[in-house]
Amino acid sequence: MQIVSMKSMLYTARANQYAVGQFNVNNLEFAQAFLQAAKEEDSPVILGITEAAVRHMGGYSLITAMVKELMKEYEIMVPVALHLDHSSSMESCVKAIHAGFTSVMIDGSHLSLPDNIAITRRVVEVAKVMGVTVEAEIGRIAGEEDGVVVDASLGTYAAVKDCEQFIYETNVDCLAPALGSVHGQYKGEPRLRFDLLDEIVRLTGVPCALHGGTGIPSQDIKKAITLGVSKINVNTENQMVYTAAMREALSQDPAGYEVRNYARAAMDAIKASVKGKMREFGSSGQAETKNI
Ligand code: 13P
Repeated sequence: MQIVSMKSMLYTARANQYAVGQFNVNNLEFAQAFLQAAKEEDSPVILGITEAAVRHMGGYSLITAMVKELMKEYEIMVPVALHLDHSSSMESCVKAIHAGFTSVMIDGSHLSLPDNIAITRRVVEVAKVMGVTVEAEIGRIAGEEDGVVVDASLGTYAAVKDCEQFIYETNVDCLAPALGSVHGQYKGEPRLRFDLLDEIVRLTGVPCALHGGTGIPSQDIKKAITLGVSKINVNTENQMVYTAAMREALSQDPAGYEVRNYARAAMDAIKASVKGKMREFGSSGQAETKNI
């Protein structure tokens, strides 16, 4: 199967009451682990790539080629979307689309509402022609993602009326409203505004993405899905699992130097962790579900 559009995946998920995980790819082993997990769980999957990860891995085209080759190698038949996460500019979105990404997020959440609408509209105009899905953020999600820090004092909840206007004026496919989740590790318990989520989903009708999936308790994940979250992003947790497994493998072999052995241990650990997430999000066994 080719990489597919994220839009239809999200509508299918919502109609069937589950969410698709966006797992962030930080290197080759992350991509291998997530594709293998998706195959073994028979689950759709979204591979999320930040601009920093693009720079680390050597560019958009190389990433598309890597994902396509791995899909061939593993005989992947489940739906896979390739998504640019938290893009800062029109230029990055165009590069990603040109390289074959099937979805882009334009993050204008630090801008005023009119400016966020303006940049999102421009991205939507280009992306729609190419059949590429667009996600955008409203309100500001606090925390740290790949070196981009939004101080807790700057984090703001999405306003329902802004979401309505935003969807009406941009025609974006997927909305990431700030609901109280944070990027990175939580200090204390997450307090998600389910009332906001409920209103936003009912008024806008578009699939919602829940960012900052690391550390959200399972009952909150389930409630968010029931209320209309169709996409859940996880990055920090996988990085923690990966580095912990690598540290453990190294500590058992202090004089060792065979890099692939430690990388494989780390890869197996995130694969197992992501399989657990797919079950928790309800996407396991859903690769074949049809749009309603
Ligand atoms: P975490 O790193 O908190 O899991 O959030 C990931 C994310 O939202 C990517 O956009």
